Amino acid sequence: MMVSSRKQKFGCVVTGVAGFVGSHLAERLLSMGYSVIGVDNFYSGYRENMVSFKDHPEFTFYERSITDPQLLVQLKERHPELRCCFHLAAIVSVPYSMEHPEETMEVNYTATLNLLKESNQLDFKAFVFAGSAAEYGNEQRLPLYEEYATSATERLSPYGEAKFLASVSVGASPRGVSLRFFNIYGPRQDPRSPYSGVISKFMDLAVQGKPLNIFGDGMQTRDFIYVSDVVDAYIAAAGLQEEDSKPVRDIFTSDRTSHIYNVGTGKTTSVLDLAKSLQQLVGKDESLLFLPERAGDIRHSQASVEAFQKATGWRAKTSLRDGLTKTLQWFMQQGGRDLS
Ligand code: UD1
Repeated sequence: MMVSSRKQKFGCVVTGVAGFVGSHLAERLLSMGYSVIGVDNFYSGYRENMVSFKDHPEFTFYERSITDPQLLVQLKERHPELRCCFHLAAIVSVPYSMEHPEETMEVNYTATLNLLKESNQLDFKAFVFAGSAAEYGNEQRLPLYEEYATSATERLSPYGEAKFLASVSVGASPRGVSLRFFNIYGPRQDPRSPYSGVISKFMDLAVQGKPLNIFGDGMQTRDFIYVSDVVDAYIAAAGLQEEDSKPVRDIFTSDRTSHIYNVGTGKTTSVLDLAKSLQQLVGKDESLLFLPERAGDIRHSQASVEAFQKATGWRAKTSLRDGLTKTLQWFMQQGGRDLS
């Protein structure tokens, strides 16, 4: 059982720490008493995402790229307490990956393999990787079981392909876990970048009183998962626990041959229902603007979450309504801030 005693310092690397999810994960780890070594090169992260913890005594930040050779070895020399790595940094834009397939492979696949190798050399207790639902391409069988993504799956982008290849290597490694995230949303998700999720875009438009843009008929569905549930999943995957809480199940003792797990809610919501729920929450009835379907969009996406629940006991706790409410509060607080 890999549970740290907080009397002995236990450090975690978080790559992509200035990103939307990475910053929430770092915040949680610090609040649990772990020390956090954050890495980001601000390729798509923001310094302001780290405001709440940048001065925490147990936090150290390195402006480095995950492609730097020997990154983890060097960090371990400076921080001997390092025992695990959460690897979230990546090229996250699917359109960018289409235009730069080689760079995407280099950053999202090759760099991941190197970090994994180093974490094995350093005898880390866990290496947890941010996989993606994009690994399933346009798979039609729903819900999506982990086994459905194979080398024969037709993926829609170099982003999806690189994530798949990396997941397979991580999942096969003795202390590696890949979490395939579905559609994550929550505070700090950037609404105005090419890879922005629909919820952050809708929030941004709704608080400005602008119509919500719906691509196609709005009947396409997604499995939306709130960021704090995602953070719970990372913590469970690494076998970390709150002090004094029940011991967590050790994922590495589960009977699966590959530690690749979906992380979603297992429930789906149509884009149209999402837009209507948000309008209700905002209390304004902005019009909906129906635009042509987005090229390359998949129609439906839904995770099977049985495997991860069985391996760790984790389950998503936040309802869509609660998650939207919290996200909306954040967007309202950003009211005066220029997000562009
Ligand atoms: C997400 C990922 C993508 C990944 C895919 C694989 C994001 C932003 N994208 O795409 O990288 O390849 O999962 O599963 O996380 N929509 C609107 N109006 C908008 C924006 C979006 O109607 O203003 C619709 C889209 O057409 C889509 C749905 O909302 O049908 C969800 O879009 P989005 O949030 O971009 O995520 P995915 O398409 O699922």
